[in-house]
Amino acid sequence: MGKNRERKSGVNIAVFASGNGSNFEAIAQAVKKRKIRANLALLVSDNPTAFVLKRARKYKIRIAIVRREDFFTKKDFEAGILSCLKVHGIDLIVLAGFMRVLSPEFVRRYRNKILNIHPSLLPAFKGAHGIRDAFDYGVKVSGVTVHFVDEQMDHGPIVLQEPLVIEERDTLAELEARIHKVEHCIYPEAIKLFTERKLKAGKRKVKILFR
Ligand code: GRF
Repeated sequence: MGKNRERKSGVNIAVFASGNGSNFEAIAQAVKKRKIRANLALLVSDNPTAFVLKRARKYKIRIAIVRREDFFTKKDFEAGILSCLKVHGIDLIVLAGFMRVLSPEFVRRYRNKILNIHPSLLPAFKGAHGIRDAFDYGVKVSGVTVHFVDEQMDHGPIVLQEPLVIEERDTLAELEARIHKVEHCIYPEAIKLFTERKLKAGKRKVKILFR
């Protein structure tokens, strides 16, 4: 993919997404409106038919499609992604519905530079079905978590959490809609804090400076 691109000033962000991309869009809007003062430099997707690609084209964001099937090993697949990140001088990776687990080696390369959003109050309801699992369990409060990614799934130091009361009359679809609405607020907020260098991550705890 040629030489490293000329580096604009500010933080270069890559969003990784595999599906719908509503979080990608919320982030793209926040960047466009300069609520986040950074460059949304790249969308990385492992899914060539994902709706998020349409959203990226709308915002004229560069796209790298890196399919797992095109590589023999996970290591090669991740090396493919890493070379795209290098070309674009990426400083921050934002996972937004990316359906692949990054290897510990990958995570170490970007230690405290990978954010993830999870649709429950971690450490409760980890995994791919956080909203449904919380709903089925019958919890009265769930919510959204933004955290740094570490070597374990849905585990790294927590940046922001927002609780959400589940009403008896809520259907799963209504709860999903409310969760997504919260996500679209707190993910841009967390990214803004990162780009303003206001996040100080320890092993377990994240300090938010001058908020
Ligand atoms: C979100 O619910 C997020 O919490 C989870 O994956 C979903 C992605 O949704 N990690 P979208 O593709 O951003 O609409």
